[in-house]
Amino acid sequence: MSKQLFTRTAQYVKQSYPIYVGSKPVTNTGSTLNVIDKYTGEVASTIPMANKSLIEESIIGNQKATLQMKNLTPAHKKQVLLDIADKIKKKSDDFARAIVVEVGKPLVDANAEVGRAIDTFTIAAEEAIRQYGEVMPLEISHRNLGFTGMTKRFPLGPISMIAPFNFPLNLCAHKIAPAIAAGCPFVLKPSDRTPISALMLGELLAEADLPEGAFSIFPTTLEDASILSKDDRFKLVSFTGSPGVGWKIKNEAGKKKVVLELGGDAACIVDNDISKSKLQHIANRILFGGFYAQGQSCISVQRVYIHDSHYDELKALLVAGAGPLNKRQGDPMDINTFVGPMISENDAIRVDKTINDAVKQGAKLLVGGKRNGPFYDLTILEDPPKDSHFACNEIFGPAFYIERFTDFKEVVERVNKSQFGLQAGLFTDNIHKAYYAFDNIEVGGLVINDIPSVRVDSQPYGGIKDSGFGREGIRNTIEEYTEMKLMILKDVGKL
Ligand code: SIN
Repeated sequence: MSKQLFTRTAQYVKQSYPIYVGSKPVTNTGSTLNVIDKYTGEVASTIPMANKSLIEESIIGNQKATLQMKNLTPAHKKQVLLDIADKIKKKSDDFARAIVVEVGKPLVDANAEVGRAIDTFTIAAEEAIRQYGEVMPLEISHRNLGFTGMTKRFPLGPISMIAPFNFPLNLCAHKIAPAIAAGCPFVLKPSDRTPISALMLGELLAEADLPEGAFSIFPTTLEDASILSKDDRFKLVSFTGSPGVGWKIKNEAGKKKVVLELGGDAACIVDNDISKSKLQHIANRILFGGFYAQGQSCISVQRVYIHDSHYDELKALLVAGAGPLNKRQGDPMDINTFVGPMISENDAIRVDKTINDAVKQGAKLLVGGKRNGPFYDLTILEDPPKDSHFACNEIFGPAFYIERFTDFKEVVERVNKSQFGLQAGLFTDNIHKAYYAFDNIEVGGLVINDIPSVRVDSQPYGGIKDSGFGREGIRNTIEEYTEMKLMILKDVGKL
């Protein structure tokens, strides 16, 4: 039961936001959902939900806008994207506070997310004017004399998008901004737990110079959301979220392309070939990577493998560093808060159970392990049994474990003994080990000399194995959203 309507949160978010269908605001749909302030438990906002007929309207809108979106000039798309980046910047505080309310994410992390969303739109503006093709000499044998090839990329058409709760602005931006740059209309469903910042973005898109029907943004029921994965009028479905849902979407997707950004259990290796003087810095980075935003990131540090020669010292630094961070628990709207609530009390209960079970099975609890409502103490475990839920699954909470290793090749194998393969980190000053890890660790991205939680918004981002497939990162997403076409020219220029 939620507590009270619209009290503390009224200063940060509105009582309601319109959804967008066929680029137009819609305020009344006959059904609503309540967005809870994750810190106070109050209802923060009441949002209309799209029904089947509005979803149909959004698809028809996309179809009508397809040709106009395709024909937008690079300069036009660039300007639209820059304008949106600029408007997000002007409303930075509003966006950040809405994120704090709807996710419970500490303000410092919410501010960082807004900064990243501005980057995401800015990078997309730059990429909008850089979609190059290739000229290919095709006279590869006597059979092909006179031929030249030329490639150009074309937008796929309507894209459906399903976004998660943990970065409710920037992960929507990562789907929307490349769609505009590529010239694709789209329909986006934000998480029903955190739709506010996506709808605030919708307000900016509605003001943008885009063809009517080019976009729709709305929450809807799980059942109706399946239209977004099943309907053949969408040419690609882009999903970020849990592996269970992601693979179901792929099965439902029919002939459309699928991009899946799923979970991870990011590993971080601390090698012996790193100077002892760096251990404090490494401890700080691991603590940040494991615990920022309550560990609710697909690339938060979950497994830390420390070489025997550094093990005891780094373990002591990690345990000593977690204590003061744990004390910075409280109202996420306070800029000094580091530990906010998790997305729900049920999630905190889930994390608590996973940790308790691991401890019962023999893991050593070094720090944390306590729940207080939706808050969970920052937690470090040592040596969880290989078959414990904690060691085999994504935790998506503020907890990681440490283990000792002696042999570098063996620890690379340990990293790979995971169903996931999103990102990994390796601290080493040994270039050969860095190369070996790059060649042999099974992930979409490897970070040398930092934590696996690093994501720069222009980088290719995505995983292998149960972490999904396809890549985001603006240039890569544009590639996903477009199809290459080849023109073969015969005897051109032969006078
Ligand atoms: C994710 O959870 O996959 C997103 C991480 C990020 O964008 O930093």
